Parts: sequence; C-alpha cells; structure tokens
Amino acid sequence: MNQDANKQAAAKEAAAYVTEGMAVGLGSGSTVFHLIEELAKNDAVRTTIRAAASSEETAEWAAAAGIATAPFDDFDELDISIDGADEVDAAYQMTKGGGGALLREKFVNDAAKHRITIIDETKRVSELGAYPLPIEIVPYAPKYTAAQIEALGSTARLRYNDTDVDSGSVPYVTDNGNYILDCAFTEPIKDPAKLDEKLQQTLGVVETGLFINRIDTLIIGTSAGVQTET
Ligand code: 5RP
Repeated sequence: MNQDANKQAAAKEAAAYVTEGMAVGLGSGSTVFHLIEELAKNDAVRTTIRAAASSEETAEWAAAAGIATAPFDDFDELDISIDGADEVDAAYQMTKGGGGALLREKFVNDAAKHRITIIDETKRVSELGAYPLPIEIVPYAPKYTAAQIEALGSTARLRYNDTDVDSGSVPYVTDNGNYILDCAFTEPIKDPAKLDEKLQQTLGVVETGLFINRIDTLIIGTSAGVQTET
C-alpha cells in the first residue's frame, strides 16, 4: 500500500463513526478529502449531517460532495471531529497546520465531543519535531515574532505561496488573514505542552500547530491494515 492508500483506509474507517444527523467537524488536508469522499458514499449520512469546515477548501469539497456546511459559530458543540495531522507522538500529542488551517482546526477539535485523528503510518513518530511546526501569527511583525520564536531554539521561516521561501514573493495568507511561520526546532520536542505554553505567550502568535491532549481516537492506515487506538 502507498501513503495515499493508507490515508484513504484510515479515512474510510473514521467515516464509520459518523451517523445520521450528527454535527461533524471536518479538518483539512488530503486525508480529510478522502474522508469527505467516504461520507458522501452513504446517502443517509450525507443528506442528514451538518458540518463545520475548518478551511475554505474543506467547505468547497464538502459542498461538492453534497454535504451541508454551516459557520462554526452556528454550532453549540459538535458530535465528532475528524482531522489529519502532520505528526503524532507516542503520548498522542500532535502537530498540525501543514495546510495552514491550524487555527480553525483547533476550534473544530475543541468543540467536539469525540475527536478522531486520521493519519498514515509515516506520521507516527516517537517525538515531535522532524516536521517544522506551523505557527499562525499576526501579519504586523513577522520578523519580530520569528526572532522571539527562534530564541526558543528554532529556525522560523515565513511561509510563502510558492516553494522558494527566499524569492521575496507574496507570503501565504491563512483563511483568517494571518501569516504562518514554519519553525524547525534544533532538538526533538521533548515537552510539547511546555513549548506550547511558551509559544502562546509570544507576542504576535495567534495559535500554534501543537495540539496538546486533543486526540480521543487515533486511526492509522498502515501497510499491514488499519490500526485504531483509543
Ligand atoms: C492542515 C493540517 C493537515 O491535517 C495536515 O497537514 C495533514 O495533511 P494531510 O492529510 O494532507 O497529510 O493540519 O492544516
């Protein structure tokens, strides 16, 4: 099985947790794209659920699949949230935001009674940090904010719309009108909760891609089949 097939298998397993009439938080990214495809295959589910989408892209995918969406604030709570991740460590802490949607993803996760993370096996790590940590920041002072984060032991690169970060082209702008810093820490992240606390206190940080204690069920697509951990 290849990586995308493993994402698809995890998404299919997660779709079975969604039942008729649920309020569903939809994450963002390619694994969630597979989830939406799976949800759309079940007419009874597709036509009765209401979804809060964590990105404009996800909202477009849901609409194209015939799944009704509503603004996040229309929901008092969500029955379930299902989202991908960039890394999940041995203690079920995770990093997210590779697609730049981390802020709304955290809202959707926060509001859900049952939070499911779906990944392929390459995302399972013993310690976080090999994948640069995305941090959403206000656009006012990206250099100043980056310097504060670099003082914590990282290289903080402003995300651009193209792959050449030094090209001087237009910064990537999130759905919330903010920027993203991709922060590569020199050491593995030994204590994600402590790092998150420090980052949250940094002037200019809107939200971090560290998701602390936010997984109820982890579904992993592996070459040996799907593993579910709760
Ligand atoms: C987007 C995210 C995604 O969940 C994460 O990047 C994983 O993406 P994919 O499912 O495409 O591997 O956090 O902001």
